[in-house]
Amino acid sequence: MSFTRRILMAGSALLMGIAGAAAQAYPNKPITMIVPFAAGGPTDVIARIVGEHMSRTLGQTVVIENVAGAGGTTGITRASRAAPDGYTIMMGHMGTHGAAPGLYPNLAYKPQTDFTPIGLAAGTPIVIVTRKDLPVKDLKEFIDYAKKNEKTINQAHAGSGSVSHITCVLLNEMLKINPTPIPYQGTGPALNDLVSGKVDYMCDQIVSVQGQVAGGGVRGLAIATTARSPSLPNVPTTMEAGLSLFQVSAWNAVFAPKDIPAEAATKLRDALVKAVTDPATKAKLEGLGGVVPDAAGASPEALARLVRTENDRWVPLLQSRVKQ
Ligand code: MLT
Repeated sequence: MSFTRRILMAGSALLMGIAGAAAQAYPNKPITMIVPFAAGGPTDVIARIVGEHMSRTLGQTVVIENVAGAGGTTGITRASRAAPDGYTIMMGHMGTHGAAPGLYPNLAYKPQTDFTPIGLAAGTPIVIVTRKDLPVKDLKEFIDYAKKNEKTINQAHAGSGSVSHITCVLLNEMLKINPTPIPYQGTGPALNDLVSGKVDYMCDQIVSVQGQVAGGGVRGLAIATTARSPSLPNVPTTMEAGLSLFQVSAWNAVFAPKDIPAEAATKLRDALVKAVTDPATKAKLEGLGGVVPDAAGASPEALARLVRTENDRWVPLLQSRVKQ
């Protein structure tokens, strides 16, 4: 056999070996999870809790990268364009993958086709929260106050299409009030301003406000679910507070870019299911008011269905209400 042929065969064997090792060894380096909002908000809180447990199963660190802007669509656009190799994933939610097409006519991604759904991480009931020194003690007094002070009252949100934006669009419409919107890069920074009294109220996901409500840093007027949350037993439901029509919960879920290798999708899905069914991780999320799915609820198929139904729900509703 000629020298050249021997070299070529050795080279191809080496390449096959490398390819084989790489193919078998996913993940063989850290995985980036893009969180499309600022640190400290509900999406970031859930990503860090779930990502930490996923790291254990995957044997590689899940590194959280906060990429905020445009109601979460900046970070999700970035993630959707990442190499489809399983090393970039994202924590999306009801805003980025449910409502966004209704508010961004030129959205750079299609929630139903441009991603690999990995699974639901947690449901997040919405709580109406105000700065603690707003001169109201319950939802009824808040409604009266907001109507009387419509010219001065302001409301925080995390950008057009974010959960805190779209859920308060519904609330404000029901209350027939038109507050001054104060946009933030996430409801983490917004909560800081609520605690310091710089902003009057917001509609936020329970997991990041639970501690401040329980500790008295902000006031929780009502939770938009039919039953009270065990994590905030003293916060009445909107039904108890006289606003039964305001019923809304959000959700946060893990996605990858479309067309990632099947092995990566399987390992990511298994790591997510192990995280949300791990007793300690489940307890941490539930302690913050999160609603944690079971293995079936955290499946890719369930998430794909959820995105479809949420697009069907939010897109027409927002297109008819919010000027583009
Ligand atoms: C956040 O993490 O800041 C929130 O999910 C933003 C939002 O959608 O309100």
